Amino acid sequence: MVAKKKVVALILSPRRLGNCEILAKEICRHLPCEHELELIRLTEKKIKPCRGCYACLMGGSCPLEDDFPVVARALSDADALVIASPTYFLGANGVLKVFLDRCLQLFSGDFDLRGKPALNLVTAGLQSEAGATEMMLNSFSLIMGLDIKASEVFYGALPGEIFLDNPEQYARAGKLGEKLFAVEKREYAAWACPLCGSDVVQLQGGDRIQCMVCRNYGRLIREGESFRMEVELRPDNMFFTAEQAHQHGLWLKGMKDRFLGLKKKLGAICTAYADQGKWL
Ligand SMILES: Cc1cc2nc3c(=O)[nH]c(=O)nc-3n(C[C@H](O)[C@H](O)[C@H](O)COP(=O)(O)O)c2cc1C
Repeated sequence: MVAKKKVVALILSPRRLGNCEILAKEICRHLPCEHELELIRLTEKKIKPCRGCYACLMGGSCPLEDDFPVVARALSDADALVIASPTYFLGANGVLKVFLDRCLQLFSGDFDLRGKPALNLVTAGLQSEAGATEMMLNSFSLIMGLDIKASEVFYGALPGEIFLDNPEQYARAGKLGEKLFAVEKREYAAWACPLCGSDVVQLQGGDRIQCMVCRNYGRLIREGESFRMEVELRPDNMFFTAEQAHQHGLWLKGMKDRFLGLKKKLGAICTAYADQGKWL
């Protein structure tokens, strides 16, 4: 007997039965395999902001007590993830970033999402105003080492509106369901970064560019009426491969000795600012 797949939908919208939630559920109706769907509404979980104490990397555990371990465990135990964020002021809901920052503990090896298939979904009220939301989701998934099977934006402002008289968005949702467990690699747009599929770049002067998701450098090449990106994997990239993520973890751990060596000098710099201003 084939075991049921466990799909976890990480819903970043606080709206119950809002567009993110119904989109994730619609997609799961089209999964070509038996599955159980577990939903996490991240805004209803207590996730405190990272304190930047690095205890998680120095052999200790995170001192913050909240729902982070439960959510992280659920993501780790999943066979696949569906991540859906609404666009809030041109970006993802802030809980995504708060959660991501806490994932520093990933480098201590407590949980590992590397290679897990994932869909990145964005909802936005207006076609021209989705801003950086898709980039933020893709960046999150890349840092987590997820295998992004697709990343798409759905438009609709009111709850349910993404499917209001919109057979095109219904059809796209259905196709995404078929992609989550597909063995084939994701197809990237002809103009997208050939390494990660993102189409967001920073112009660096001349024809030089940096991909804003995988942070590799390259060139923008004119091809007929269009452009394409030529990008090379940096050997010092932090998260692109498992080995690079591991090396970054080692580098972070090495900072402890650097800090101990410089503690006195650094302390003198910082305490010079200790009594300035009045905190609210
Ligand atoms: C605080 C806030 C800010 C928003 N900012 C944007 C925006 O910048 N661009 C946009 O297209 N839609 C914006 N929206 C609309 C939502 O992205 C849209 O309604 C989306 O479908 C919500 O998904 P949900 O129903 O899952 O919450 C905003 C909504 C809220 C509540």
